[in-house]
Amino acid sequence: VTAEKGGYEHFMLKEIHEQPKAYRDTMRGRMNAAGNKVILPELNLTEEQIKNIRNIQIVACGTAYNAGLVGRNLIESLVRIPVENDIASEYRYRAPIVTPETLVIVVSQSGETADTLAALREGQANGAHVLAITNVVGSSIAREANSVLVTLAGPEIAVASTKAYTSQLIAFTLLGLYLAEVRGTQSEPEVAKILAAMQSLPEQVEVILAQKEAIKAYAEQIAEHKHLFFIGRGVDYAVAQEGSLKLKEISYIHSEAYAAGELKHGTLALIEEGVPVIALATQESVLEKTVSNIKEVKARGAHVLAITHEEHKDDLLRSVDQVFVIPQTLPLLTATLSVVSLQLLAYYASLALGHDVDKPRNLAKSVTVE
Ligand code: G6P
Repeated sequence: VTAEKGGYEHFMLKEIHEQPKAYRDTMRGRMNAAGNKVILPELNLTEEQIKNIRNIQIVACGTAYNAGLVGRNLIESLVRIPVENDIASEYRYRAPIVTPETLVIVVSQSGETADTLAALREGQANGAHVLAITNVVGSSIAREANSVLVTLAGPEIAVASTKAYTSQLIAFTLLGLYLAEVRGTQSEPEVAKILAAMQSLPEQVEVILAQKEAIKAYAEQIAEHKHLFFIGRGVDYAVAQEGSLKLKEISYIHSEAYAAGELKHGTLALIEEGVPVIALATQESVLEKTVSNIKEVKARGAHVLAITHEEHKDDLLRSVDQVFVIPQTLPLLTATLSVVSLQLLAYYASLALGHDVDKPRNLAKSVTVE
């Protein structure tokens, strides 16, 4: 059995370790030799159609929805087209405003999620072009979509999605860059810089994986708690949501992801002596603000772990209890690294609590009922 798990104790751990390969495979062949252009022939959209896109709706469930939150951040920054995120089971019933100038992006690892498939049909019925980001080429969603951007993560067995999520982030980045090229919102040198940074991501993931013992030790600490918080701003908030979901799914520790500045408008009362708060602080532009939010929870007794880059480590150490450092990358790409540490955290917390990591109770890998 460990043979099919590649020597790992669980599929989830194996799949976490397959991410460098998944990143490379998803990027391969999708940029030119000069490294300053993205090539996506699988997009069945003319330049004219791309230039006419007025809004984008990203629709998905679960982890794929969370990938879409990062996708929105990427696309809005790179292309300046307004993007909405929708939970697939909600999409049809809110009478979404879809026109032939809307690009609907459905995201699904399996390509079989019933609600996501229904959202795809809703988009098409309203004349939108539906682009699917999926990991399964022959899936229902891949077959019905107008364009398919395949993630090459390879089969994902563990119920908790890891390499599919990060491959979706890579796909969104490529898509954002491609749309930006066509619409002229990013210069060639800017695109080249981002593509070069993307090429370093697989090795940078390896650096995080090599530090898993430190994450394991912290996971054993939080395994004793009943609830905890993830906080962050911007893309860090999107990653916080995925980190929180991952932890809940497999460790059954209750957690909540909050936009760092919003905690004081809501559940700050739940922060008391010893409550763990995991603060994602990778975004230079809002770092000071995040630090002041960290101080708010520290003042109430929270035990804070910050996830940040080396250059901010010393700064943060003055206001938090522990720091976990991730390799330096562009602000746009941090999610592809920071989330890996949160996947490991969820994994080791589940392990410490003796749960069935690969098959958490009550969840299914693919949900084909609405
Ligand atoms: C299920 C799984 C989740 C997954 C979601 C969407 O609920 O338990 O892990 O994120 O479906 O799956 P999809 O295959 O559409 O990405």
